[in-house]
Amino acid sequence: MELQNSRILKDGSSLSIIRANPEDAAEMIDFLNRIGGETDNLTFGGGEFHMTVEKETEFLEGLQKSQNSIMILGRINSQIVSIANLSASNKTRMLHAAELGTSVIKAHWHLGVGTAMMEYLITWAKRSGIIRKIDLSVRTTNHRAIQLYEQLGFQKEGIKTRCMFINGEFCDTVEMGLKIE
Ligand SMILES: CC(C)(COP(=O)(O)OP(=O)(O)OC[C@H]1O[C@@H](n2cnc3c(N)ncnc32)[C@H](O)[C@@H]1OP(=O)(O)O)[C@@H](O)C(=O)NCCC(=O)NCCS
Repeated sequence: MELQNSRILKDGSSLSIIRANPEDAAEMIDFLNRIGGETDNLTFGGGEFHMTVEKETEFLEGLQKSQNSIMILGRINSQIVSIANLSASNKTRMLHAAELGTSVIKAHWHLGVGTAMMEYLITWAKRSGIIRKIDLSVRTTNHRAIQLYEQLGFQKEGIKTRCMFINGEFCDTVEMGLKIE
């Protein structure tokens, strides 16, 4: 189970995947505020990721030591094109269950970035020895993402209603899960 830190994408460009450092905070906030405006499939819209650089730095410092949570950055030519993470609680009964989040900048969709980021997180979870389940929520209408998750072995576990409220409408999500054996 090797963690794959670099990938050649479908257009021949090279993706590097590294764990986010506290120094990445400002760049990550800019990325998340930009990407929020590119899609209605995230829990925040453009410019709605209200986090100060100080708070994000502190958050990333805390994550450095974590055994069951991780934030990773995908870069092409040193620019962030994707952020993905696993987030699990410190409560003894919940240590094993990590929630996954992922996003890829629109200009780099369909190249295999999302797949590479997810595969990295799944391998990391297997190597953690702690995580035994990865959960995620995805809008019922986000067919591309659902297909990606199913290809990686995630199964649909149920539907949650009214999870988000976007453009005057409630949106439902599919809850999906992957058992780590
Ligand atoms: C969903 C998302 C992460 C996918 O990232 P990506 O880098 O485009 O994904 P990949 O290129 O690795 O493609 C993964 C799979 O998606 C599907 N897919 C890709 N392009 C597609 C297209 N044009 N039409 C239909 N399915 C497509 C395919 O199943 C593909 O696998 P394949 O290449 O083996 O056929 C990305 O579109 C994204 O960030 N969207 C906005 C935010 C979001 O939806 N996040 C997920 C919230 S739960």
